Amino acid sequence: MVDNPFNVPVKIHIIDKNLNKNGEKLGTYGTIKGAKTFLGLSVPNTDMALVAAGYQFENLILYATNMGLGTVWLAATFSRDNFSKAMQIDKNDLFIAISPVGYPTEKRRIAENIMRTAMKSSSRKSWDKLFYFENFQNPMTETLAVDYAIPLEMVRLAPSATNSQPWRVLKTGNTYHFYETHKQNTSKEEALIKQVDLGIALSYFHQTSLEQGLKGKFEKLSQQNIDIPSDTHYIIS
Ligand SMILES: Cc1cc2nc3c(=O)[nH]c(=O)nc-3n(C[C@H](O)[C@H](O)[C@H](O)COP(=O)(O)O)c2cc1C
Repeated sequence: MVDNPFNVPVKIHIIDKNLNKNGEKLGTYGTIKGAKTFLGLSVPNTDMALVAAGYQFENLILYATNMGLGTVWLAATFSRDNFSKAMQIDKNDLFIAISPVGYPTEKRRIAENIMRTAMKSSSRKSWDKLFYFENFQNPMTETLAVDYAIPLEMVRLAPSATNSQPWRVLKTGNTYHFYETHKQNTSKEEALIKQVDLGIALSYFHQTSLEQGLKGKFEKLSQQNIDIPSDTHYIIS
């Protein structure tokens, strides 16, 4: 079962265009062509809800990918109101994202290539920009990470909205602390989606650690003794 370790009741929805009784127009601003089936993601507005949503939906996406299905997170480029009505999203919940599910074409379309170039979608930040050892002045290396080099590398490769890669990880003692970073002038919606990105990163870290037989648990820990840079926000350890 696709679940999350943060005790948040994440809601997953599914809709088929052909079975949509009320006929709302389910559009994706030209980003997706031919998809008929869509997954949706919503959560109650509580602590850790966005992180849990990112974690759980990414696990579902990985599951679908493993079945040979094509997916893509859409948090911005979809007709939110129409999907919300069609999927009967609770008015009190946060409606975070959708993903088409279907068989992908072999070749990328021109519009997709243009978008990917603009966001540098195929590149990722290097280790020294993301991971730190003992304090935020000291970059983490693969050698210092020992057994956790692969889980951290999977975090580095994770997808994120506009490919912003807002995750930062600090290792102190035996503990990995996870943070989200965004500039002060970032819009509220954009800042919130970065918590979803952190959930995705935690899914990659957790799934890879389990695969590697590494043991641990998620816990919110005091950050009092840690000098955290500005624009960097603690999530969980
Ligand atoms: C939370 C989230 C939201 C996203 N929202 C959109 C979106 O609204 N439209 C879109 O075309 N791509 C969206 N993406 C896809 C990202 O742009 C893409 O993952 C990123 O550029 C990295 O490319 P890659 O996943 O192919 O490595 C989203 C990805 C994530 C993780």
